[in-house]
Amino acid sequence: KKYIVGVDLGGTKLSTVIINKSGEILARANVPTDAQKGPDAVIQKIKDTIHQVMDEVGATVDDLEGIGIGSPGPLDAETGVIKFTPNLPGWINIPLKDKVQEEFNVPIKVDNDANAAAVGEGTFGAGKGVKNFVYITVSTGIGGGAFIEGKLFHGENSNGAELGHTTIDMHGPQCGCGNYGCWEALASGTAFTKFAIDGLKHGRRKSLILDMVNGDLEKIDAKIVFDAARKGDEYALEMVEREAELLGVGISNIINNFNPRRIIIGGGMSNDLDMMYDRIMKEIDKRALKANAEVVEIVRAKLGKDAGVLGAAALILNQ
Ligand code: BGC
Ligand code: NA
Ligand code: ZN
Repeated sequence: KKYIVGVDLGGTKLSTVIINKSGEILARANVPTDAQKGPDAVIQKIKDTIHQVMDEVGATVDDLEGIGIGSPGPLDAETGVIKFTPNLPGWINIPLKDKVQEEFNVPIKVDNDANAAAVGEGTFGAGKGVKNFVYITVSTGIGGGAFIEGKLFHGENSNGAELGHTTIDMHGPQCGCGNYGCWEALASGTAFTKFAIDGLKHGRRKSLILDMVNGDLEKIDAKIVFDAARKGDEYALEMVEREAELLGVGISNIINNFNPRRIIIGGGMSNDLDMMYDRIMKEIDKRALKANAEVVEIVRAKLGKDAGVLGAAALILNQ
């Protein structure tokens, strides 16, 4: 069997690749998830993108060693059932693995998206050869994957290291999971953008951001805020600083809890990590235990946006 398929199901984007056994990506498909259309439509898209990458290299089902899927959780990695997930509306007890298996009768593994990306970085990227590291993805949500003593930590029912749902402000905004003040509700890409838009809606009228979107607040996304900050816009710089502070708080907790050698940051918000790095380090300095802080390095995901798909494929490759 020559090929492995990796699928990274995100709240906003769906990416699928086909790789060979050396981990080279031979074909890829990137489409919007359109999560609001519900589970059936999204699962159909997953199947379509798998067919697409297979067709591109001329692969049949018999050529596939298996399909690995990284999905937002909470989920059950044993059965491949998504239990409930804040960032995919309507996904309650959805048997993702079985549904994909109906179409492709090959071994299929489903795991948490951040766990899969941690496996990707551990196999091919910034976690290679590192015994203790924590991967975090800061995107639509915030996810975590922890390698402890050289092994991915699953927890009792596959939902270990749901780091985005640690409470960092007990009176904070409500999270998609129902709790208040989760790290994700404050510092995800979604929260970052929402906070920036809210500020402009309620009072702040002077910002380059408004010119960049011709006054249409709907058009604001994280990239625009970072671009404005890079041009020196005061409001955007404030937003970026707040984000970096929030990331620093959450990362300090991770440093104290896991005592990792590395923290690897991926997801869309890691594109602009350079702009936040110093402020994050300042926060760690202030909050994390010195003994723990002194051995940790904060780095960007080496595989960039491919961490998720390659990790998903590695769920099959490493078994
Ligand atoms: C989910 C996690 C996921 C993260 C990133 C969170 O809302 O609970 O399972 O890893 O989003 O997608
Ligand atoms: Na996880
Ligand atoms: Zn939450």
